[in-house]
Amino acid sequence: MQTGHVLFFFIFPVVLEGCCVGNHQKKRTGLMGLQQNTTHQRYRAVEGESFIMPCVKSESVVWSRIREDGGNEGPSYDCEKEFPAEVKHSGNYTCHTGGSKYFLHLQVEEKSSPSCFQPEESTVELYNSAGGEIPCPRYDCSNNTDVTWYKGNRAVSEMKRAPCEKDGLLHLCQVKAESDPGVYFCDRQIIEQGVMWTFRRAVKVEVIPYSEPSGPLRFMSPADNATEEVELGQTHNLTCKVFFPYEKRISAKVQWFMNYNGNKENMTLLPMEPPQYGFKIREEYGVTRRAIIKEVTQQHLKHTYTCIASNTVRNNSVTIKLKKKTTVKLPCLVGYPLVSFLLVSGLGIILHVKWMELQLIYRSHFQHGKHDEGQETHTHTHTLRETCYIK
Ligand SMILES: *[C@@H]1O[C@H](CO)[C@@H](O)[C@H](O)[C@H]1NC(C)=O
Ligand SMILES: *[C@@H]1O[C@H](CO)[C@@H](O)[C@H](O)[C@H]1NC(C)=O
Ligand SMILES: *[C@@H]1O[C@H](CO)[C@@H](O)[C@H](O)[C@H]1NC(C)=O
Ligand SMILES: *[C@@H]1O[C@H](CO)[C@@H](O)[C@H](O)[C@H]1NC(C)=O
Ligand SMILES: *[C@@H]1O[C@H](CO)[C@@H](O)[C@H](O)[C@H]1NC(C)=O
Ligand SMILES: *[C@@H]1O[C@H](CO)[C@@H](O)[C@H](O)[C@H]1NC(C)=O
Ligand SMILES: *[C@@H]1O[C@H](CO)[C@@H](O)[C@H](O)[C@H]1NC(C)=O
Repeated sequence: MQTGHVLFFFIFPVVLEGCCVGNHQKKRTGLMGLQQNTTHQRYRAVEGESFIMPCVKSESVVWSRIREDGGNEGPSYDCEKEFPAEVKHSGNYTCHTGGSKYFLHLQVEEKSSPSCFQPEESTVELYNSAGGEIPCPRYDCSNNTDVTWYKGNRAVSEMKRAPCEKDGLLHLCQVKAESDPGVYFCDRQIIEQGVMWTFRRAVKVEVIPYSEPSGPLRFMSPADNATEEVELGQTHNLTCKVFFPYEKRISAKVQWFMNYNGNKENMTLLPMEPPQYGFKIREEYGVTRRAIIKEVTQQHLKHTYTCIASNTVRNNSVTIKLKKKTTVKLPCLVGYPLVSFLLVSGLGIILHVKWMELQLIYRSHFQHGKHDEGQETHTHTHTLRETCYIK
């Protein structure tokens, strides 16, 4: 049993629409108006991740470490060669090209330093010939919208392969097994104490042959043609749970549609929460998707609702109806116990009063008898009084 195996790569849904139509790679602009100082650059890297020194104006250069005393004697790094970053690489470097001198201040972050990022170099597997996405490792201290991608030292935007970048994701419209594997770098501009740094992260890309997922798409819930009870004016969650055949890279899609007046030809996509990916169970994994009807109206009861599950190979769907919940009326719910309670307690009171009356009659009768019948009766009265007292 392989439960507990979290499918971590789920977090990158394949949404290529609108990105691979034409080349949308942004031209770099300065962050918050700050322009990168081209002669004095600052780079950050993460210990253990691949790193590559930047080239200068697309020219291949060799960066030499500046020794503390100012000499140029330290080790040199070619901007064409990747190397695993180590803390000892932190320092200042210089290079000469085109008659100018350039400086680079490199800071390698320790893996253990508490920070805004996870220190793992990520690995992404993409399917050959399909569209693919490469996420820049998360950086939690800023948003991830401003990212520039490089493959080795070449800016991806300058390649002829028409990729595009959106929200920190690099989309490759058609993955090529011959040319696409390798280490990609994503650069973020971050500002610390008014100083701009380029934070460079690495992602290793592997290309694997595509294999079709085999097996059916099974609905856990809802059942087809089911009717769900709703309350008017209340929120109702449409929840769809589907088991998909396992895939190395997930293509599962679960969506809720509303069929206008129950007409399946006229479907509109409902606003939905992001899908929740479950655990792998044997050869399947579960996906849950919710559409929330904020306030159920009479209108909602007229339509039907279809949940469509699909992967790259097949699709399947279930359709449900909504029905008004037959609510029990409030007076009945509260009334019956109340009436019974009043009845019982009323009866109790009557019985109690009758009992006291009886006692009075009994007592007055025997008190009279005391003078007439003497000692024996007196004892009797005493016993009776005691009994009453205890009761
Ligand atoms: C770049 O930074 C250096 C040192 O901080 C400074 O001397 C130089 O004028 C700056 N260049 C530009 C173009 O801002
Ligand atoms: C590197 O240069 C920066 C100025 O650009 C300076 O603040 C820093 O102390 C230098 N670091 C080393 C290790 O020389
Ligand atoms: C991301 O940050 C940039 C600059 O800091 C800002 O202009 C943009 O609105 C932010 N985007 C989001 C979605 O927060
Ligand atoms: C649901 O209803 C449709 C037609 O209304 C029918 O074709 C289908 O077989 C039904 N599904 C189930 C599971 O009963
Ligand atoms: C509906 O979904 C929302 C968000 O997931 C949740 O907060 C809420 O409790 C759900 N309501 C019901 C009735 O399950
Ligand atoms: C689909 O439903 C909308 C109402 O949401 C209606 O205006 C439209 O005419 C319908 N289209 C068809 C093809 O039935
Ligand atoms: C579902 O699959 C059928 C063929 O099996 C196809 O005709 C249909 O367009 C697919 N629907 C969706 C929503 O993918």
